[in-house]
Amino acid sequence: MNAPSRVELRAAEPRDHSAIAVLGVESFARFGDYRRSMSQWLGNPGIATFLAEQDGVMQGFAMIALLQTEAAPEACVLAVCVQSSAQGRGVGRLLLGHALERLGREGAEHGATEVFADVADDNTAALALFGGVGFLDRGPSGATYPGGQAARRLTRPLPHSDSDTIRPC
Ligand SMILES: CC(C)(COP(=O)(O)OP(=O)(O)OC[C@H]1O[C@@H](n2cnc3c(N)ncnc32)[C@H](O)[C@@H]1OP(=O)(O)O)[C@@H](O)C(=O)NCCC(=O)NCCS
Repeated sequence: MNAPSRVELRAAEPRDHSAIAVLGVESFARFGDYRRSMSQWLGNPGIATFLAEQDGVMQGFAMIALLQTEAAPEACVLAVCVQSSAQGRGVGRLLLGHALERLGREGAEHGATEVFADVADDNTAALALFGGVGFLDRGPSGATYPGGQAARRLTRPLPHSDSDTIRPC
């Protein structure tokens, strides 16, 4: 029997957008209707999207951004989504590890020292995923998802900012 091929990461291209939107809308359905948000995020040049692929089949994607708020430059992980058939095999951790490496590199120029993600309070898989790579739960962000869940703000230092390192995937 052939060994399973590696999961590869690559930048999303316009030809990937519809598959990414379908996965995002499905994955976030219990939090609300994300059709419009997915379309806006994919069309926003300030948001970088990359995907995990195995044998040419998308296993999941992540979206990241560097923001300039009034308070300070910030880095954000907007989304990490893995196909349900591919979950539990380390793809989410691989995507999030790459997101942190990239934000660490690009955030230094931007002046950001911290990365945040907002996660629904009942999203145990995501809370564990982010917690496993050093994010701390800072409590309610103040926002509520249309599905009724309260958002929690998770943060961690960017990898460059305090000689912190990302755990290998
Ligand atoms: C959250 C999500 C991205 C995790 O992806 P995944 O590929 O299954 O995660 P991994 O296999 O890389 O697991 C990494 C860690 O996440 C945590 N985790 C993943 N699935 C979990 C589950 N069902 N329950 C509890 N913890 C879980 C564990 O800590 C795991 O580490 P371990 O395997 O050493 O225990 C996936 O469940 C998903 O796409 N959910 C829907 C979209 C979403 O809610 N995204 C997050 C908000 S943007």
